[in-house]
Amino acid sequence: MTTVAEILHQRLSQGVIPAAEVMQLALYHPQEGYYRQSQNRWGFEGRDYYTALDCGPLLGQTLALRLEDNWKQLGSPSSYTVLEPGAGRGWLGRDILSHVSPSFLKTFTYLHRDDSPAAQNEAKQVLAPWIQSGHAVVTDHLNSIQPFVGAIFSNELFDALPAQPWRWDGSQWLQEVLSLEGSEWHPADAAEAGQWFASQAEDLEAGDGSIWAEGLAPLVHLLAQKLTQGIMIAIDYGESADRLLAKGADLRRYRQHQVDGKWWEEIGQCDLTADVDFTRLQACWEHEGFHALAHQPLSHWIRRHALLETWEAVWAELPSEQKMRQTNNVLQLTLPGLLGERFRVLEGHR
Ligand SMILES: C[S@@+](CC[C@H](N)C(=O)[O-])C[C@H]1O[C@@H](n2cnc3c(N)ncnc32)[C@H](O)[C@@H]1O
Repeated sequence: MTTVAEILHQRLSQGVIPAAEVMQLALYHPQEGYYRQSQNRWGFEGRDYYTALDCGPLLGQTLALRLEDNWKQLGSPSSYTVLEPGAGRGWLGRDILSHVSPSFLKTFTYLHRDDSPAAQNEAKQVLAPWIQSGHAVVTDHLNSIQPFVGAIFSNELFDALPAQPWRWDGSQWLQEVLSLEGSEWHPADAAEAGQWFASQAEDLEAGDGSIWAEGLAPLVHLLAQKLTQGIMIAIDYGESADRLLAKGADLRRYRQHQVDGKWWEEIGQCDLTADVDFTRLQACWEHEGFHALAHQPLSHWIRRHALLETWEAVWAELPSEQKMRQTNNVLQLTLPGLLGERFRVLEGHR
């Protein structure tokens, strides 16, 4: 197998490499890709980054309610399947399965989908009780999943798609590339991305720019084919298209909880991520026939759908350490300036 270093060396001898291609290799090279290694890199100490799931079960608990609500709206079908692409360690599945009601659980099958070996290994352990009882499956391929009634949800899936940063210099589009010297911006044909950006800004100004994930629409298309009826929920880091353009969104690198923009360094050793363009994500789902789509900050979504007052009465009785963790979880997902404010939730129906 050709190593990442060999591929980059060979490509650089021919010219510069678009940043999105480097991100593809850095995350998904079959051997050296960050998400193809057997070592899990999620979490707090000694790891690279944490997600809403590391803060506690509140997201899963709220999703359990939201899904049950959808199940009832659909007339309580006898089989309700839930697919989570980019499911990582399976923690969200575990938190949902731990909180659904007994009558809903009888109909419920959770499908974990992620090619990361570290994610699959951990998910098999974390989900073991439900795998044994037939309520959870760690799936190897999307193709093996028959279309179903239920839900598709994801947490931080779309921000892990290889994305290309673009900048408007006042007269043309520039593309961020890797050269022998590091990162550079070169004029290039922005094609579909350029048309999309122009359609989302009233007036493009020099310095405006955003990211374009080529794989977004094909992935949404693949996923949408699986859901015959039900709800789609995407939770991710990002913003609407106009805001991303105005801020000049680009790639971020995470290593040991340090974040910077040096996506070309320590390839395969760091997580690379890009903001999700929620306007475009919404347009992709609409294109697939989903309706009533809307996105909002995660903090709003939690406050709207979680039974915080009821649950707080239960949490008040917990031992102090657990109570503190639970309080921290609520604060992280609901207070301004914290995780719940930086993430958005897109929902749609079919
Ligand atoms: C940022 S991690 C999030 C993991 C998990 N959802 C969490 O919140 O902890 C992104 C995950 O998406 C997976 N992934 C990327 N592209 C995917 C795809 N097309 N289908 C399924 N999983 C994918 C990666 O392997 C990685 O485990």
